[in-house]
Amino acid sequence: MQASTTENKNHTILTGDRPTGPLHLGHFVGSLRNRVKYQHQYQQYIMLADAQALTDNMDNPAKVHDNVLEVALDYLAVGIDPTKSTIFIQSQIPELTELTFYYLNLVSVARLERNPTIKQEIILRNFERDIPAGFLTYPVSQAADITAFKASLVPVGEDQIPMIEQTNEIVRRFNRLAKKDILVECQALVPEIGRLPGIDGKAKMSKSLGNTINLGASPAEIKAAVRNVYTDPLHLRVSDPGHLEDNVAFIYLDAFDEDKIGLQTMKDHYTRGGLGDSVVKARLEGILQDLLAPIRERREEYAKDRGQVLQMLKEGTQKAREIAAKTTDEVKAAIGLKHF
Ligand code: TRP
Repeated sequence: MQASTTENKNHTILTGDRPTGPLHLGHFVGSLRNRVKYQHQYQQYIMLADAQALTDNMDNPAKVHDNVLEVALDYLAVGIDPTKSTIFIQSQIPELTELTFYYLNLVSVARLERNPTIKQEIILRNFERDIPAGFLTYPVSQAADITAFKASLVPVGEDQIPMIEQTNEIVRRFNRLAKKDILVECQALVPEIGRLPGIDGKAKMSKSLGNTINLGASPAEIKAAVRNVYTDPLHLRVSDPGHLEDNVAFIYLDAFDEDKIGLQTMKDHYTRGGLGDSVVKARLEGILQDLLAPIRERREEYAKDRGQVLQMLKEGTQKAREIAAKTTDEVKAAIGLKHF
């Protein structure tokens, strides 16, 4: 959905990332770009989901720890402004864990096992029968994240829609139990532009697949990545007609080239035959170098003063915690957990 500015000024957004690695162009297209826009239109909370990241990284907590700051640098580099968006660290808000513990009683194990996102991720991670209980229940933790801020809009990729459905089930159950609308139902905000494929043509750009272009990539890394971008395997000679479907060079140009007319001319020439991949890739490289240069420079600038970035995260976390604590008080009061 595309929400209009004036109509939805009062909406609250909660979104987040698992800090398990540097962010890349896929994140830029799928979420970061929109967050820069949303921060002017909505009350926006952006969470570094380090506790959730541990549900499948408990063997490597240092990775999660170190990437909290790296992802925060990516946020700042793309233009997320901590005076407009509240950026915070999930693990530093114990109320989120507390809410999770209560909500766990509103969900059955069978329902969690049926969650399509969880089912898919269990296969991807080869958990088989050894599913960490924390992993199986992370949708409940995600419901806690969303409801703690009474978020009505949750920008997520398509794969996260079952999480939103599960959250709303918890909200409805809780409110029925409380006989009062304490928690707020939310709506997924799915980006109009679909997922960006990896440079190898695989459906998803992903660190674990090694097919990304990172936001902090150096000019040489960008150049090498573009050289390896999957195009049309049937386009052997320059004179051969080329195909645009599944052609990653053109998919990226569609996402980043603002000169739509020039791009269309190039597409026509390519499909007719007589245009080499190297020309298409040169155009793509120029666009990506221009896009990423200021992001990389800002990132390097912020990285010089990590203390200042940590301070920003601390302030954001304090502000977020106040909101989460207020909701937690309401939740506890509604279920008989207020004694003094
Ligand atoms: N599960 C999300 C992901 O894997 C990250 C996340 C955690 C999140 N809590 C959230 C997203 C709450 C939106 C709202 O990307």
